[in-house]
Amino acid sequence: MTERIVLAYSGGLDTSVAIGWIGEATGAEVIAVAVDVGQGGESLETIRQRALGCGAVEAYVADASDEFANEYCMPTLKANALYQGHYPLVSAISRPVIVKHLVKAAREFGATTVAHGCTGKGNDQVRFEVGIQTLGPDLKCIAPVRDLALTRDKAIAFAEEKGLPIETTKKNPYSIDQNVWGRAVETGYLEDIWNAPTKDIYDYTATPEFPPAPDEVTISFEAGVPVAIDGVKVTPLQAIKELNRRAGAQGVGRIDVVEDRLVGIKSREIYEAPGAMALITAHKHLEDITVEREQARFKATVGQRWSELVYDGQWFSPLKRSLDAFIEDTQKYVSGDIRMVLHGGQAIVNGRRSETSLYDFDLATYDTGDTFDQSMARGFIELWGMSAKVASGRDIRVAGK
Ligand code: ARG
Repeated sequence: MTERIVLAYSGGLDTSVAIGWIGEATGAEVIAVAVDVGQGGESLETIRQRALGCGAVEAYVADASDEFANEYCMPTLKANALYQGHYPLVSAISRPVIVKHLVKAAREFGATTVAHGCTGKGNDQVRFEVGIQTLGPDLKCIAPVRDLALTRDKAIAFAEEKGLPIETTKKNPYSIDQNVWGRAVETGYLEDIWNAPTKDIYDYTATPEFPPAPDEVTISFEAGVPVAIDGVKVTPLQAIKELNRRAGAQGVGRIDVVEDRLVGIKSREIYEAPGAMALITAHKHLEDITVEREQARFKATVGQRWSELVYDGQWFSPLKRSLDAFIEDTQKYVSGDIRMVLHGGQAIVNGRRSETSLYDFDLATYDTGDTFDQSMARGFIELWGMSAKVASGRDIRVAGK
């Protein structure tokens, strides 16, 4: 029987050419797998037809947009995950859901190998292959760009020679990856890290210099998940989309960073994640009133480690799973409303309320009604500083000798 390979298919030039290229190089039949993670653009049916037109024996398409929002974006929100303090893990969280569907398709169509279009320099190859090793340990992996010398020029020549139903003339100077959680733009002109991004780079956000009138929004959460916007019930996917639209119109969520890739390269990245950044800001502010101090401090460390694991392709790892359990436990009381103003590239919280809040007006107030006994503070401070005071006494004693 002819060997079968499932290919992670985007509908673009490289993966379209990869269908025939893999076929010629290996003699295998190629099954194209396209996964909708809310990236917008062409319909899945158009992409399916193109895959078949490029020589795929089968085309598997999956609408995973709700699955992606519920099972991948929401855990990222609960973790307030920002890799290196900036990046909300846009591409990093989409690879595991794509992997799930690749493995499913491999089982359905009897494939022995999984292929993806990544180069050998990035994180995404690691995320695909580690994911596949974990969910389908018997499956092999191949990356035509990395392993079968499929360069851009060769891809264009191949598409023209075979008359593939794909545009080869439209030259996009950037490498772009996008889904409902955000958009990542790299390479080309951006590789000079002194170059400011030009306006044409952005798609999810309008320029914040000339924003429309301020937009005030109230986001309601239940156990860490957005459930309503301005009182209207929403699913996680709808919440992200609605805030992409409203925060995007105000230029919220533009990020320009040089980040540390897993493979050791520092790389310039432009991200736009209006919905994700507005949601993370609101969620963090709700945690500020509902999560106990020590738990909150520890959670920040856990969230950072979680972000690194996910960035590094360890979505399906045991440690990531254990950290998920911790984070989930912290979300029990993260319910309530956050009001924020979206304007001029910023999302600024200006009100919060929660039935499960730990904010105690009577303890906090400086006005009448104060229930805090200030006389307790003196003794507390005395003991709190004692250890450092004893040590400092020792320092003076030793220095004096
Ligand atoms: N540097 C980001 C990451 O590793 C974005 C990658 C975008 N991927 C792409 N193929 N352009 O998560």
